[in-house]
Amino acid sequence: METIRGKTSLTMDSTELHARLANYKRIALDLGTGDGKFAFCHAQTFPSHFIIGMDSCRENLREYSRTNLPNLLYVIANAQSLPHELHGQISHVTINFPWGSLLNSLLEGDPRLLCGLESILGSGARLEIRLNGGALSEQGWSLEDGSERIFQNLAVAGWRLDAPAKMDSHALHHFPSTWAKRLAFGRDPRAICGSASLK
Ligand SMILES: C[S@@+](CC[C@H](N)C(=O)[O-])C[C@H]1O[C@@H](n2cnc3c(N)ncnc32)[C@H](O)[C@@H]1O
Repeated sequence: METIRGKTSLTMDSTELHARLANYKRIALDLGTGDGKFAFCHAQTFPSHFIIGMDSCRENLREYSRTNLPNLLYVIANAQSLPHELHGQISHVTINFPWGSLLNSLLEGDPRLLCGLESILGSGARLEIRLNGGALSEQGWSLEDGSERIFQNLAVAGWRLDAPAKMDSHALHHFPSTWAKRLAFGRDPRAICGSASLK
């Protein structure tokens, strides 16, 4: 799979990846990581967790991917075609404020995304997803209906969902991702956070 450090791309095979992941009790994937700030903050705060920040767009990742934390890796990949090297490795997934084809796949229950996720997760995996009003309205959905549709698709795919929680501008402001800060000061500072475990 393709990893990135600053402007440099490096291929990492399964052997190298497994060596990096050895001895970490939690392996988290931040899917659609954007500039990678959330993954960076998580890795800094929890040295016993290994964090993989993944996005299809490399340009935004240049700054945070230059950092040299042993428990942090940035990967360039498409959510609809998750790298086979991750097979069965991931225990926690976050998807924060998805847009574009990532959001579209969640709304459509795209099997390339949902089966791909299942294949990279170990048993008892946890998912956290944060959906914002502006991105859903661009796809023709209200925050409530779009979130409900996504949670239904996840349930059909075998996820057991906890009760969703609302995020207001205060919660967004304090959430450690670049997009959350933008949303907090934007026109529609509302989001819904859902968490789930694989049945
Ligand atoms: C609104 S940004 C959120 C970024 C970050 N999670 C944050 O909270 O700051 C959505 C991100 O999803 C990524 N994305 C959209 N479709 C994707 C796909 N199919 N595969 C991987 N990433 C995707 C975009 O490149 C973008 O970086």
